[in-house]
Amino acid sequence: MKVAVIGCGSIVLKEHIPAIVSLGIKVHALCDISSDNIESAQKALNYKVPAYTCYKSLLDDVQPDTLVVALPHNLYDEVLTYCSDFSLKIIKEKPFALNLKQAKIFSDFSRGKNFKIFTVCQKRYTPAYELLKSEIFESGEKISQLTIRYTIPSKNPNANWRSNFLTSGGGVWLDMGYHVMDIVNYLFDGKDVTINHARLINSSGDDYNVDDMAFVELECDGVIIFAYVSCVEIEKHEDITAYGKNKIFHANKKSVTIRNKKQEVIDYHEVEPTSPFVRMYQDFLFDSGEAGFERNLSNSMSLMRVLEKALKNSEFNIFA
Ligand SMILES: NC(=O)c1ccc[n+]([C@@H]2O[C@H](COP(=O)([O-])OP(=O)(O)OC[C@H]3O[C@@H](n4cnc5c(N)ncnc54)[C@H](O)[C@@H]3O)[C@@H](O)[C@H]2O)c1
Repeated sequence: MKVAVIGCGSIVLKEHIPAIVSLGIKVHALCDISSDNIESAQKALNYKVPAYTCYKSLLDDVQPDTLVVALPHNLYDEVLTYCSDFSLKIIKEKPFALNLKQAKIFSDFSRGKNFKIFTVCQKRYTPAYELLKSEIFESGEKISQLTIRYTIPSKNPNANWRSNFLTSGGGVWLDMGYHVMDIVNYLFDGKDVTINHARLINSSGDDYNVDDMAFVELECDGVIIFAYVSCVEIEKHEDITAYGKNKIFHANKKSVTIRNKKQEVIDYHEVEPTSPFVRMYQDFLFDSGEAGFERNLSNSMSLMRVLEKALKNSEFNIFA
């Protein structure tokens, strides 16, 4: 495997490089227009790697077979279009695409050629969410409602490419809602999802021209799902609550708690905080092979369909 990284920003420094290092995978080249970020990536790798500011030169010189690509969302189009002529495995950060139209183009790149795109969606590899799924299944409880809350506090949400539709392609619904929809896809084994109601809000205004909060009601397999996503909350939250007839299941990244309807804790499991990124890389690079790429591509298309449907049904349509 000859891996190179295009885009060495925050997620690559915080998660991808540590996961790659921990699995003993060698990185053969780095590309970023920021020399500071290249330097930080070199430090994180702890060995010297050829560095490029142009991904085309990197491809010509290094001829990698696997690319990790993590860029501002508007740049994926150009990079993937160029790369699609090469024989490559692309591990690309979410979202799969800016919209369904682009998703279809990216999906076509992957068909019938030696070019495969895997979209990073690591949250389904969170051990606590796996345990939540199996606890619900083993309990035999019929779940009627599920709430997924995913919020982060941003001191200045106007700061970078995320605040501008032209560079981000959408706000928190596309950026963070993508993860939420992937969790739903995982918990419900890819069953069809409908949108009952969607409300995307821009509470920041001015230079911020995308949504920074999203309240979306979905339905899947007879379960009402409420998703709340925000990048302007005062606290970070990432949790899932599932309400059954007799039991309430709650999971965050560290634990799963089960209560009876009197709210008494009847079971509690702390979960090993194993990095979902490491488990994700392990799975698609070493364990699940071609089938893993196919499954991921099909999930990515489903996610894009639901995200776009919510956006179109939304009371605040940012395309208006
Ligand atoms: N999976 C997750 O949990 C998760 C979390 C955060 C971000 N992401 C995704 O990762 C991607 C990057 O997000 P980020 O938060 O790391 O952003 P970032 O702004 O920190 O990083 C982007 C990097 O791209 C570089 N760059 C910009 N233009 C370039 C070019 N032409 N050529 C080479 N490099 C260029 C920038 O210098 C920067 O280092 C996005 O798709 C985002 O949605 C995923």
